[in-house]
Amino acid sequence: MPSLNDATGSRVLFGGDYNPEQWPEETWLDDVRLMREAAVTSVTVGVFSWARIEPRPGERDFGWLDRLMDLLHQHGIGVVLATPTASPPAWMGSRHPETLPRGEDGSVIWYGSRQHFCPSSPVYRAYAAAITEDLAERYGDHPALRMWHVNNEYCTFCWCDETARHFRRWLRHRYTTTEALNEAWGTAFWSQRYDTWDEVIPPRKAQYLRNPSCTLDFRRFTSDALLECFTAERDIVAARTPHIPVTTNFMPFWTGQDAWAWAREEDVVSVDVYPDPTDPLAGQYGAMIQDMTRSQARGPWMVMEQAAGAVNFRSVNVPKPRGLGRLWSLQSVARGADAVCHFQWRQSRQGSEKFHSAMLPHAGEHGRVHQEIRQIGAELSRCGERVAGTHVVSQVAILHDWESWWAGEQEGRLSARVHYPAIVRAWHRALWEAGVTTDFAHPEHDLSAYRLVVVPHLYLLTDTAVDNLVAYVRGGGVLVSGFLTGAADRDDRIRPGGMDERLRDLFGIRMVQERWPLPEGEEVACDGPRPFRGTLWAEELEPSDAETVAAYRSGELAGLPAVLRRGRAWYVSTLPEPAALSELLTRIADEAGVRPVVEDLPPGVEAVRRGDLLFLLNHAPGPVTVGLPGQYRELLTGGPVDGSVRLERHGVAVLA
Ligand code: GLA
Repeated sequence: MPSLNDATGSRVLFGGDYNPEQWPEETWLDDVRLMREAAVTSVTVGVFSWARIEPRPGERDFGWLDRLMDLLHQHGIGVVLATPTASPPAWMGSRHPETLPRGEDGSVIWYGSRQHFCPSSPVYRAYAAAITEDLAERYGDHPALRMWHVNNEYCTFCWCDETARHFRRWLRHRYTTTEALNEAWGTAFWSQRYDTWDEVIPPRKAQYLRNPSCTLDFRRFTSDALLECFTAERDIVAARTPHIPVTTNFMPFWTGQDAWAWAREEDVVSVDVYPDPTDPLAGQYGAMIQDMTRSQARGPWMVMEQAAGAVNFRSVNVPKPRGLGRLWSLQSVARGADAVCHFQWRQSRQGSEKFHSAMLPHAGEHGRVHQEIRQIGAELSRCGERVAGTHVVSQVAILHDWESWWAGEQEGRLSARVHYPAIVRAWHRALWEAGVTTDFAHPEHDLSAYRLVVVPHLYLLTDTAVDNLVAYVRGGGVLVSGFLTGAADRDDRIRPGGMDERLRDLFGIRMVQERWPLPEGEEVACDGPRPFRGTLWAEELEPSDAETVAAYRSGELAGLPAVLRRGRAWYVSTLPEPAALSELLTRIADEAGVRPVVEDLPPGVEAVRRGDLLFLLNHAPGPVTVGLPGQYRELLTGGPVDGSVRLERHGVAVLA
């Protein structure tokens, strides 16, 4: 199976999306010259070129792409070649309106933007397969080809009739009989029983709350339907070029795809990372996405897209201040990336993303942003050989599962204030601030390599996952779990006692009496080794033989346990305020024998070990000095480091 290394040639790949069909061909010469000067090693081509390659159904215009591929190759720039299937041409929607997705209320999602395809449409799939075949045939032997990039940010949902037929096939495969489906969905409630398969429809717009198990299965189905689109194109290119790796770019922490399942089908796992430069904790957000992607890849991975400056999809889009792009690029490398790419090379002058920054901005080659891009390119080529292919080792895993997220964020839940990614982020932040590097893992993965396993919030846990957690603790592991964990089984059926019995036994909880979500503006005071505020949620727990680590002090639950433990298993029934969560996790990590990468780091400084290198990254608002035992050499400047290193604002040190 080809890997990222086959594309990088043991260096860090640097570049971005290149959409030259927006420009006259004279511009291309300028582009390749500037790319070389910026140490660009690879560009991603063709992502949105479908209408250019296939201007009319079945026609092909490859001339421009032939010239482009040759030009890039002549200049030593590799190509990540995309199948253009994320944005079907207007003729498809016009001639075959059944390829267009429909919303929950049956309304058509029209062409005129992008990603307007129904993943279940046989017509769409046939056209997508045909153009993929032809691209693979034409460029499979091209010397510039480094990697295949299938589609782009798969993210469509569709509720049309074709989707309904496809959903039924998927359900029949899962349940075999309607009796089993009725049982799994609990259709005895509200007279929802299905007598025949034909009666089953996707969860469309309805009078009131829709069946949550149906909605959950529809999420699973949609992820699988999109994955079928990916694997169909992947199989076509892989058959023609078995030595060339294949990827598709994930959106970060995106709800629509079970990326654990998807990653297994890719040679290279890639992600698009767009932290908000105005977020004081953007560095932590980036670290979380990077940790997640590295864990999906189980090794080196690829930043397929990041912005050189401003994006254009927030309500206010500010550029990155000087140095921030470099900091975040090197942060990705520290956390395992072997490719640092951008959206896009040359900033558009027309179209919806003309205000989105690029490596070559409207300000041109002498512009500040382009000069910074050159610096990043130069530095990556300087340290690339030392890092490429090396690994980040973590002793801690955070458990994350899309199915649990989907099940937990249904209509009719206890609190609409509970937002799954925000809770995962809060727990990751606590460890990030404690200087501990974390992996992510699926609850059914083998966890035995970790000293500490953290479950921020897994409402749904399958029997296999529950057994896995119990076995992990029995085997000597330390487990800490957040609220509402293990409440539901795989069909979203609530477990008796409010939590799976095996887990209650693990944590020393006799019964979860009631859940007490906190209304907006309310917090709950807790007493522990140090008083803290619980946010978002509280639980009325009846312990069996657990030790109370912290108790609720205010409100209806005063005196009841807020945080409890039974030996190596900890349960946290609220979301402690950030400093308290960090303190708690530092204590638990310490007990588990997990040390921070570097002791006593100044606030805002991130330390990551990758291979035999130590990365220090300054996310603090000003310069800092970091004390270090021992002597190092700084790889980017070549200078010696003895005792301490000063990092400017947004500064980075890569220490050998
Ligand atoms: C996504 C897409 C790109 C572009 C960027 C803008 O990542 O893949 O085509 O739209 O967003 O940030």
